[in-house]
Amino acid sequence: MTELLLFLLNLPAQGSSMAPAVDWLHAFVIGVTMLGAAGVTALAVYYTIRFRQTVPSHLAGPNAAKKQRSVPAIPLSLEVALILGLLGLFVMWWVIGFRQYVAMRTPPDATLDVYVSGKQWMWTFAYPDGRASNGVLVVPANRPIKLVMTSRDVIHSFFVPEFRLKQDVVPGRVTTLWFEASAPGRYPILCAEYCGTSHSTMRGEVVALAASDFERYLEGEREGLPGPSDDEPAVLGDFPGQGVSLAARGERVAGDNGCLRCHTVDGTPHLGPTWLGLYRSTVPLDGGGTIIADEAYLTQSMMDPMTHIHAGFGPIMPSYRGLLTVPETGAIVEYIKSLRAPREEPHQDPLPEPGPLEVSP
Ligand code: CUA
Repeated sequence: MTELLLFLLNLPAQGSSMAPAVDWLHAFVIGVTMLGAAGVTALAVYYTIRFRQTVPSHLAGPNAAKKQRSVPAIPLSLEVALILGLLGLFVMWWVIGFRQYVAMRTPPDATLDVYVSGKQWMWTFAYPDGRASNGVLVVPANRPIKLVMTSRDVIHSFFVPEFRLKQDVVPGRVTTLWFEASAPGRYPILCAEYCGTSHSTMRGEVVALAASDFERYLEGEREGLPGPSDDEPAVLGDFPGQGVSLAARGERVAGDNGCLRCHTVDGTPHLGPTWLGLYRSTVPLDGGGTIIADEAYLTQSMMDPMTHIHAGFGPIMPSYRGLLTVPETGAIVEYIKSLRAPREEPHQDPLPEPGPLEVSP
């Protein structure tokens, strides 16, 4: 039954715990719609034949009206029942859909969290234990995974067709998504929001491993485990301005835009907080509370500086919305990231530095 459904609706295999429910609602809505359309069509054909004009009116005599069949009056109760039935159907769709939405938006308590960062044109995954990878997300199957996602430049959309999962990834904002791969396997990740020249090559792969394989993977063993596809590189990025690092570009951009008139890079506070060691530090906020200075916070501070003001500094930072291009903003964030405090205490990193995935041959 499921196979037939997938074939008829041209859907990929169901790869997550959520997929069967999503497909069921999909099929239910399409089924009801098609039944409704068929009913209306049949009725229209029947009425057309049954109540057609049998004698052309210019040939008909004075009593032509009598030859016409009169349309029987539809009882009011039937009309009311029809309207209520349709309304009930609509409410039913809504209730089923809303329950699914809530289930999709509410991750279970014990999840494995992965930090996802989209940028033109690749996906980067950083795990709490410090591992990181580009393009390939390695997770255990049958275990809930929560993705904490943000974008470094423009809006992307994280889409895994087999999981029936799609969520926009927005610069300056953090969106989350959770899933549970229902079987070990490899599932393509696509970008579902046009994000520039190489949007179509912004691909990745979820590699779901059986629990025992995942343990081996964590211990650094790669033998016999699925890795990135050989036929198609998981990451196909051609970032403009290759050769010069993003951080180096950021330093120039910051100088050109006057950032360094208020922010120092040597640890001395000036009109604004110093950039040295700022990345991933805990920032005390004006009016109480703290925030981790991750990519999302740094981007937001450039675009909406009044949202989270660093305690001890005046609200004097102007917004750079419209003044800095998206790649320039990313370059400045990259530059700030490169300014680590010289002797930083080792601490629990909430957002580990992404790096290339080590896959031994
Ligand atoms: Cu990223 Cu399209």
